[in-house]
Amino acid sequence: MADPRAGAPAALLPLYEVPAPLTGLYAEIADCPRCILARTRTHTVPGSGTAPCDLMFVGEGPGQREDELGLPFVGRSGQFLDELLASIGRSRLDVYVTNVVKCRPPANRDPLPDEIVACSEYLDRQIAEVRPTVVATLGRFSMARWFPGARISQIHGQAQTFDGLTVIPMYHPAAALRNGSLRAVMKQDFAQIPALLTGTPGA
Ligand code: URA
Repeated sequence: MADPRAGAPAALLPLYEVPAPLTGLYAEIADCPRCILARTRTHTVPGSGTAPCDLMFVGEGPGQREDELGLPFVGRSGQFLDELLASIGRSRLDVYVTNVVKCRPPANRDPLPDEIVACSEYLDRQIAEVRPTVVATLGRFSMARWFPGARISQIHGQAQTFDGLTVIPMYHPAAALRNGSLRAVMKQDFAQIPALLTGTPGA
C-alpha cells in the first residue's frame, strides 16, 4: 500500500503523527482482515490527533478523501468540523478523532451491522487509550453505541454520563452541509463542550 502522505497537502502532515499509546493498534488496523471493507479500501483510517486527550470525536466511516489520505474527516465534512472546533478554541491536533468503522464503505454507503461489530473492539481500545472526559458522537452510527434506538433529532446536544464518561450526541457534519439550518444547531451543541470538559454543564 502506497504511503498516503505522498499525496497529502502539507497542512495535513502533522495529523499523521501516531500517538505513542496507539502505535500497536494502528499497525493491527493497517492489516485488518475482519470484514469485507478490507477488500475495497485504499488505506485504513484509524484516527488522528492526540492520546491521551480530554476530548474525542467518533464519526461514521471514511469517505473517498479519507480513504485516499488515510486520515479521518479531511473532506468537506472535515472542513466544517475544523470550523466547529475553532469555535470552541480547539484544533485537530488537540482532540482525538476517529470513526465507528476504519475502512471506507464502497460508494459511501452506510456501514453494515457486521462491519460495525467487527470494528467495535478497535474503538473500545481507542477509548481506553485516549481516556477522554467527553466523547462527541457525530451522526447516528456512533450515537447508537451509547444511545441505542434513539433519534438524533430528539437527543442531539443532550449529554449523558456512562461510568464517568460524558457522551454528547451530535448531528454529523455532512447533515449540516446538506441542510444549512443544522449548522447553527451544531454550533450550539458544540458550545456546550467546554463546560462538559470542566464538569460545569449549564454554567
Ligand atoms: N464522515 C465520517 O463519518 N467520517 C469521516 O472520516 C469522514 C466523513
